[in-house]
Amino acid sequence: MPADRTAAGPDGTGGYGESLFEPWKPGEGDRIDLGSLAYDHVTRARLRAVGVGPDTRCLDIGAGTGTVARWLAGQAGAGDVLAVDRDVRFLEPHAGGALRTLAADVTDPGFDPGRFDLIHARFVLMHLPDPQRTIARLRDLLVPGGHLVLGDAIDLTTAAPPDSPYRLAMRAMWRALRTSIGTDVDWTPGYPRLLRGAGLTGVAAEVHVPPLAAGSPIAAFWLDTWARSREAMLATGLVDAAQFAAAQEALASGTADDLSPGLITAWGRRP
Ligand SMILES: C[S@@+](CC[C@H](N)C(=O)[O-])C[C@H]1O[C@@H](n2cnc3c(N)ncnc32)[C@H](O)[C@@H]1O
Repeated sequence: MPADRTAAGPDGTGGYGESLFEPWKPGEGDRIDLGSLAYDHVTRARLRAVGVGPDTRCLDIGAGTGTVARWLAGQAGAGDVLAVDRDVRFLEPHAGGALRTLAADVTDPGFDPGRFDLIHARFVLMHLPDPQRTIARLRDLLVPGGHLVLGDAIDLTTAAPPDSPYRLAMRAMWRALRTSIGTDVDWTPGYPRLLRGAGLTGVAAEVHVPPLAAGSPIAAFWLDTWARSREAMLATGLVDAAQFAAAQEALASGTADDLSPGLITAWGRRP
């Protein structure tokens, strides 16, 4: 399914987003940060509720620009935080104190960074093949009693009418992501079942949908994501250039009158 998951960028970087988002180009860190601005308060509240303290050894998988890992190591007061990503260029400048960074691929069979009290990953498993296997691998990295907290996108709208420009564009985006990097959000509503299937206890999940207001971080995030993936979205045939422009206008002006994709966060505890 993923056509180019292992393809290398101009600087040798391979992996997530290489064909659509071209992470070696300026602005990709800013795009990830817009997503963080829209969702960090939800993730932080959940991690706080699960419990973070000076004795908590944390692992953040696919940490991106590190907004969650930095918060864990800073304000949340965790004693030790390991931020892992295949691409650590946005993370490395923040290493120090309780925050360590590691360049690694979580799907690598040899990936074994230690044992942790809290493992978090957001917007990562949806880009990887076989989420059940990744969940089992992460469970095995937890100490008994440790918590797994996983967040991913949930698509609440595109399967149904109306065929507004906004929905056509979102459909095209999900299709383009699936074709180019294997992203699949169809399974994410099944998170609770997957966590229970991995033997975790105290399993639950919640969904947050940020409002699509003009100028909001989430509107800016989708506008930037669409701009970067415009050609791939048009190539799906699910949206044409005029509909794409109308969708951009609706999102920019706050008149999409629809729901953003949401963040589903699911959690459970290793017995
Ligand atoms: C959409 S970004 C999310 C970043 C961050 N977790 C957040 O929520 O802001 C996905 C991140 O996962 C990383 N990633 C993708 N596949 C990975 C893998 N197999 N192993 C480690 N990191 C991976 C990417 O490099 C990217 O930084």
